[in-house]
Parts: sequence; C-alpha cells; structure tokens
Amino acid sequence: NRPPASVIFIFGGSGDLNQRKLIPALYNLFLDEWLPEKFAVVGLGRTHYEDETFRGHLYEAVQQFSRRKGELNGHWKDFSNYVSYLQMDAEDQESYHKISERVKAFEEQFGEHPNVIFYLAVAPQLVPDIATKLGALNICKDTRCTRIVVEKPFGHDLKSAQELNGLLAQIYDEDQIYRIDHYLGKETVQNILALRFANALFEPIWNRNYIDYVQITVAETVGVEGRGGYYEQSGALRDMVQNHILQLLCMIGMEAPVSFEANEIRNKKVDVLNAIRKIKKEEVQSYAVRGQYSEGWMQAKEVKGYRQEEKVDPHSSIETFAAVKFYIDNWRWQDVPFYVRTGKAMHQKTSIITIQFKRAPHYAFPPEAADTWRPNRLTISIQPEMDIRLRFQAKRPGQTMTLNPVDMIFSYHDAYEDGHEPEAYETLLLDVMEGNATQFMRADQVDAAWKVVMPIIEAWEARPPVDFPNYAPGSWGPEDAEALIARDGHNWVTLPAPHKE
Ligand code: BG6
Repeated sequence: NRPPASVIFIFGGSGDLNQRKLIPALYNLFLDEWLPEKFAVVGLGRTHYEDETFRGHLYEAVQQFSRRKGELNGHWKDFSNYVSYLQMDAEDQESYHKISERVKAFEEQFGEHPNVIFYLAVAPQLVPDIATKLGALNICKDTRCTRIVVEKPFGHDLKSAQELNGLLAQIYDEDQIYRIDHYLGKETVQNILALRFANALFEPIWNRNYIDYVQITVAETVGVEGRGGYYEQSGALRDMVQNHILQLLCMIGMEAPVSFEANEIRNKKVDVLNAIRKIKKEEVQSYAVRGQYSEGWMQAKEVKGYRQEEKVDPHSSIETFAAVKFYIDNWRWQDVPFYVRTGKAMHQKTSIITIQFKRAPHYAFPPEAADTWRPNRLTISIQPEMDIRLRFQAKRPGQTMTLNPVDMIFSYHDAYEDGHEPEAYETLLLDVMEGNATQFMRADQVDAAWKVVMPIIEAWEARPPVDFPNYAPGSWGPEDAEALIARDGHNWVTLPAPHKE
C-alpha cells in the first residue's frame, strides 16, 4: 500500500544531501510506485531558482547518484512534476508563512490535508533555530500529520544533545520527531532482526554460554572527502561510533521484541545501550584506541594525510580511526567482549559483524587435525558484499581424518536475483511518510549512546595524542588497534577482498 498524501519540505534543497541521497531515493521510490498518489517535494533555500532550473539541477544529481540512472528517459519528466522550489530565508520568521501558504495550496490540489514532513538537511547549528521557527506555524501543532526529520550529528556531546532534545520536546511530540541514522535503513542491517528473531536456530545459542566475542568493523577507503570542516568538529567516535556502530551493536545485543511496534523495538535497543559498561576515564587507554591517517599511497595513488586535507588544522588531534572494546553488563552478555573499529583511508571498504562462538568442548579427532580446528563463526556482511556466512568444520575428502573450516554462505544477490534492494534513504523516507518510527532514534537512545562514548571523548580531549598521524592510508589502522584485541588472544576478522570480474 502506498503511503497517504504527503508533502516533503526539504531545508537545504540545493545542498549535498538532497542531491546525493534524498532526491535519488525519492526518484527510486517513484519508479517502484511507492510514492503516495498525492505527493509533492519542495526544496527550500535562500538562492533564487525557478522550478525548472531547480529540477534541472536535480536531474543532474540523479544522473550522477542514482543507481537507476539508466531509467531516466520518459520517467524523469513525470517525477519532476512533483518537485518545486520555494525561496525563503530560514532565519526570517516572516518567510515561514510561505510554507503555510504552500501547504494550503496542496490541500486544495489534493482535496485533503496531507502529511507535512520537514526534512532538515542543513548544518547542525541551524537545526534549533529552524525547528523553533517552524514550531510557530499552526501546521506544526497538528501532531497527527506533521513530522520533522533531523539528520545526524544529533548534538556534539551529551549536553548539547540533551539541549536539542529538550528544545524539540517543547515544540513537537516525540512521535513527530524522526532522528535519522541511515545505517538502520540498510537492507542487511534490517535483516539482522529477521535472522535473529524469525529463526529458532540462533536464539538459544545467542548468549554468553556459546558466544566468545563479537566484532564490528566499519572500514572505509575514502578519506574525509572535502568534509574537513565538519570532521574537525567530529572525529570517528562522534561520526560513526556514537550512532551507526552502537546501533549495530544494539541489533546484535537486544532481547527478542514482542512485536515490531516502534517503541517495542526501541525499548529493547535502549536497554542494550543502558547496559553497556561505562568505561572509566582513567581506564580509557586499555579499552579504546585512536588513530589518524598520514599521507601515503593507496592503490598506486598518492593520497593526502588527514592533516593536509582542506579545512583541517595541520596539527589536528582529531581521530580518523577508533577501536573500542565494550562490555554489556546483563545476563545475556556478561564478560563477552564487543570489539568495534571504524576508520577512514583504510585497506578495504567493508562493514562486517562477526559472532565468534566458543570452541566445541571436547576434541576427539586425531592430533594432526587439531591445527585446522576452528570455532564456529557467523559473519554478517553489511556492505559492499551483502551476505551471511556460517563457518563450520568439515572433513576433507580422503582417507585421513583431516578437518578444515568451510563456509555456508547466503548471498543476497544469488538468493534475490533482481538486485533491486532499496537504498537506506528510500526505506527511511517511506517510513516517515507512513509514520513508522521503528528505524529511527528516540530521544532516550541518543542520550544513552552519548553516555557510552562521552568518557572516551573526554579522556581523549584531555590527553591529546602524541603519535598522530599513526597509520598509513591503505592499512588496517594503527598497531595499537591490533594490540587491543591481541591482548585477549584474538585477531580482527576481515573477509577476502571481493573478486572483481
Ligand atoms: C556518515 C558519516 O554518517 O556515514 C560519514 O558522516 C561516513 O563520514 C558515512 O562516510 C558512511 O556511510 P555508508 O552508508 O557509506 O557506509
């Protein structure tokens, strides 16, 4: 079923996020016939555009960024009829009346009152002011139909996140606020719930009795790509761990939900965040490692070091890599380490979650087979590969009892050949139009996630790094990250780079 009549106002209409992600996602939803029958998207901004010129810009963006750019002919025209532009000054309260007028016009055109969605695709410092000014409009008092979408970063630290939540709570009901974490919209991430809770096989062993440790790696080969200004205020912990990685950890760690109702899922996730052991500031060194990439070579190309990037302080202390060992203090997970790491300019683009099971309790095979005896391991590849593999021991064919590990692999592309998995923003935009907040962050989740990372941030800020830059681009991060996990007798798990045809 298509969602009800909706109008999406995008603040930052000519900005990067709208061009790279939002419009391509809406276009794909249009192609798949998921957009409401009565629909409009309005770009907002200070620059003057005629509707046609604005559409022209977006056309170029879709050509560049949509995975379905091959399907533009004949379809773009129909889609672009939904798109218009409204010039306004977001700092001027008077300007906001134009929005109310537009909504009225759509109401007349549609013959009904649509959902009104305000998407704040703007720099974080502009969010409080826009949210407040919108709050003065009558439409925002309609808690049924009006929603506001806020992008990350959600606050700069615990205090500012609480202030922002406090401000939004004065204007909107929690149900109206959609805090985006785009990792939650990824197909492979959503599938973790299916894997865990639609199968009877895994849940009985999904606990400290059978699981030795868990690893989450989110590695990127790109550097900061012109976002130095933003990144200097952020760093890997704020940019990736506080949100995406902790959310992945929640999906692995949460208890079974009773239903898919938004608050039920979010309650179960926030329980995990609240149970994560807070690292004491004086112990941060034993639990967390930071890194920054130097200049060097990657795949035969010379690349800049982080400190040479535009808008980056040549003596910057900002980390472009972070690895942390977490514990979850509850019955299910007591003493099971969760190792997480993320970084820019790393060896391979890969996001994987590894569940390492304990060894079989007794080894009854000939001693010569012992060398290749490995514990079971479940690996969930989120991207770019999309698969789930279970490693188990098998007997090598032959007259001797030789064992070796083999993988049983579920690959999305082999199983679902049409290859049309929606992108995260498609799923999430559709959810907003449908009023489904399951995959969005509730205020208490944001708060709890900040509480987890704050001690690390504070300890790091109090003690600037002395060895930065400390990893070469194209590597797997600083040596200390290897030591962090090697101390416990483990290694970081990577999958072989995908074979390119
Ligand atoms: C964003 C971060 O939230 O996620 C970026 O701000 C990062 O720094 C990006 O590159 C990674 O997203 P994805 O979907 O490409 O893994």
